[in-house]
This record gives sequence, structure tokens and C-alpha cells, in this order.
Amino acid sequence: MGSIGQAPIDTAIASHHLSSRGAQNYLYRDIWGPRQKYMGDPWSPNNPNGTVILRLAENSLMHDEIAEFINAQAKVHPLNHLTYSTGPRGSRRLRNTAASFLTEEFHSRDVITADNIFITPGVASAIDALAWAICNDGEGILIPQPLYNGFHFDMLNRSNARIVGVTYEGIEGYKGLEDLFSPGVNRRALESALRRAESEGILVRAVLVSNPHNPLGRCYPPETLKEFASFCGKHGLHFISDEIYAQSVFPNPAIPIPVPFISTLSFDLRDIIDPNLIHILYGASKDFCANGLRLGFICTNNEGIIGAMSSISMFSWSPHLLQDVWAAILEDRQWMRGFMLKKTNLMAENHTIATSFFRLRGICYFEMNAGLFIWIDLRHLLLSKSVQSGYDYSALRVTSPDASIYKQREMRIADICMENGVMIAPGNVYMPEEFGWFRITFTVGKAALVEGLERFWRALGDIEMERRDWE
Ligand SMILES: Cc1ncc(COP(=O)(O)O)c(C=O)c1O
Repeated sequence: MGSIGQAPIDTAIASHHLSSRGAQNYLYRDIWGPRQKYMGDPWSPNNPNGTVILRLAENSLMHDEIAEFINAQAKVHPLNHLTYSTGPRGSRRLRNTAASFLTEEFHSRDVITADNIFITPGVASAIDALAWAICNDGEGILIPQPLYNGFHFDMLNRSNARIVGVTYEGIEGYKGLEDLFSPGVNRRALESALRRAESEGILVRAVLVSNPHNPLGRCYPPETLKEFASFCGKHGLHFISDEIYAQSVFPNPAIPIPVPFISTLSFDLRDIIDPNLIHILYGASKDFCANGLRLGFICTNNEGIIGAMSSISMFSWSPHLLQDVWAAILEDRQWMRGFMLKKTNLMAENHTIATSFFRLRGICYFEMNAGLFIWIDLRHLLLSKSVQSGYDYSALRVTSPDASIYKQREMRIADICMENGVMIAPGNVYMPEEFGWFRITFTVGKAALVEGLERFWRALGDIEMERRDWE
């Protein structure tokens, strides 16, 4: 997250009467504050001067359908959901429903019960609570790179836990992005990252993976998930599997034999890891096109974790009235299956629009079939025109001597896109191992997608002009 100077923190403490913790977060960890302006003014046919937001992991393709269901379901039922009800662990109704949802839809090997489920206001909150419950100040959680940028804030802002990035460059068998899903490569990379953390004096407490992967948009094969679990078992670490994109997998003809989504819950891992160390996360934001509902849950056998989380969740639990709404959705399996089918068809259509656009213009990207975004390759734009021949991208590695120059150029490209009215995500926020990649969301409405891509293309024209001055 970069080094933090003490002087600005002292100034913030003095001028805003904050704790040093509050000052640090105010200065360096408030990602939403600066975005508020653009997020409040999104592009639409009626608001042509608004920003097209292709940066956030949101799926707007089924907003009408989900809103219709919610509007019909928003009822006070049972009446004790107007009381403190069963408290911060979550409503009985949603915990029961979530348990049977996981048992049936995620093909859990063991029957999940309401006692295994802890409801949170979103998966971000679940990660915050978990990090708080398992890490002391400064302790680490291993996460394969590149990684979802929100993990930083979820782990750091309150708990002061650290990401220990699992890097792959130089690991035997690693040649490119495809290898990030290989079991052997991951085993070696995890061992090496753990040794590095130990040598830096960081105590590692867990491995956290996003399956399907954010930002790469692929599912991990079963053998690789088992490697993660067995590595955790061997070293006594928690294994946290964030499965928030489980039902956002769609057919992409460019991946003829895709790895399907398989939940870690479906494996028998008892011989390789203590079941108390496995935690599965799921939420309503992505698969149910409802980031604003703020609902998620943790599935765990670990009563200690549930109790610890309960002690802090009393400050921020989701209203049981809203929990009922998600429970109603999960209970109506027939409706839900129809919703998921229609949604994944629409996702496939939008994905085709975006990738046809990229192909026609010679923009490369990593083929994906899960999640809401495409990882596109603009590495050539970071190099000056004169050195570009032969496409040697070694200078773009984050470990290269000129890395800071390329990071700045990457940020500049994102800024030029903003100047053209489209917000995309520069790859460096996802802790990649080289600069020049960007994440673009394709699950906005079709008109917004087309408008956003056109603006993006105009921005690339401006970037080409500016690049003439890049040495
Ligand atoms: C992998 C992953 N986990 C968690 C979250 C946070 O989701 P929520 O809205 O449930 O807090 C996101 C959101 O982008 C995500 O991509």
C-alpha cells in the first residue's frame, strides 16, 4: 500500500481531532469518498454527460427482475423482525435458507445447518470480521496475485492485518496467466511466499482465495483448491474461500473446455485440514445483481470465530427485514434458477459485445468465463514507440528498476479514460506482477457498455498522442 509518512498523519490528527488510526484511514484508506462524485452521476441515455462506470464489479443486467421480486417480497415476516430478533448472527430464516442453499446448490459434502452460518452486511464485512477474529496487528494473510483490491481495505482498515501477496514470477512451471490456476505452481508459490513472510518477520494466519477469481475471471480446478487446503492444513493456517461469483459463470466459446465452478464445500478435506480452519464466503452483491442490498455470509464450523465475529457485528448487522428479502429469493429455487439462466445468457451477450469490440481493434485480453470483468492487455501502450518493437515486456515487471515510471503511465491511461468520461480500473490496484493490464466491467446495460467502449477507444487515441513524448 506504499509507505505512509508520519507528518501528514500528525497534521490530520491535529486538524481533525482524530485518533492516529482514524487519521491513517481518513488519509489513505477511504476509497469510496473520492469516488462519490462520479458514482452519483452515472451515464444513461438521459444523462449523456455522466460517467460510464466500467470500474466496479457490479452487474446491472438483471436490476429490473431483482427489483420486481424485492418489491413484491418486502414484507414484515415474521413480526419479531421488528425487534432485535435473534441478534447479529443473522435471522433464523436466512441462516436456515442459506444452509440449505449451500447444501444443495454448492453440493456441500456435509449437511450445512443454520449454526454454521453467520450473516454479514456484505462479503467485505465478512472479511473484515474474519481478519479481526484471526489476525493480531500486523499479521498476514496469503493471497495469490493479482488479487481483488478490496481485500486490502477489508483486512487493513480495522484489523490492521496485512496481505502477503503470493507471487509467481520465477516459480517453476509458471509462464503466464493460465499457470496461475495450476496446482503444482500454486503449491510452490505458496511455500515460497510463506518463507518470504517468515524471513520478513510476518506471522501468516490464513490463505484467502477468490474462486471464481477476481480479477482474472476463471474458476480454480478442484486439484488446485485441494492444494490450497492441504497447504493450510500442513501449516496450521485458516483457508478462506471467497465464492461470491459462484453463479456468475457463463459459456464463452473461446474456452471450449471450461473449468466449472466447484465449491470447496464439496470436497472431503478431513484428512488434510482441520474442518475448523475452513471458511466459505458468499454474498448477494454479484450473483444476485444487488450490491446495494449489503448481504453476505460466512459458512464455518468454527464456533470460536462465530462468537468473536458476533461480538463486533452487533455494531453493524444487516436489518432482519432485508435478510428476509434475500431469504425469500433463496427459498424460491425455481425463480432463482430462471433468474440465473437469464442472467448468464445476458452476460454472454455483453461479453461478446465487449470482446468483439476489442478484437476488431487489436486489443488483447485474458479469456474469462466467470465474474463481471475482463482483464485487458495494454502493455504495449506503456512502452515508448521507439522501444516497442519485439514486445519485450520485461521492463514492465513490478520488480524492474523503472517500475515506478510504468506504474505512473498506467495511472495516466486510467486518468485519460476518465477525462473521456469512462472509468476503468488500472491493473496496479490488483497487485499484479507487471504493469499494463486493466480491468473492464462488461455487465452494465448494453447502451452503457457500447457508450463506455466508444469513450475508451477515443481515450486510446489521446493516449497514442501523449505517448509520443514517452521516452
Ligand atoms: C472477490 C470479492 N469479494 C468480496 C467483494 C465484496 O462484496 P460485497 O459487496 O458483498 O461486500 C467483492 C466485490 O467486488 C469481490 O469481488
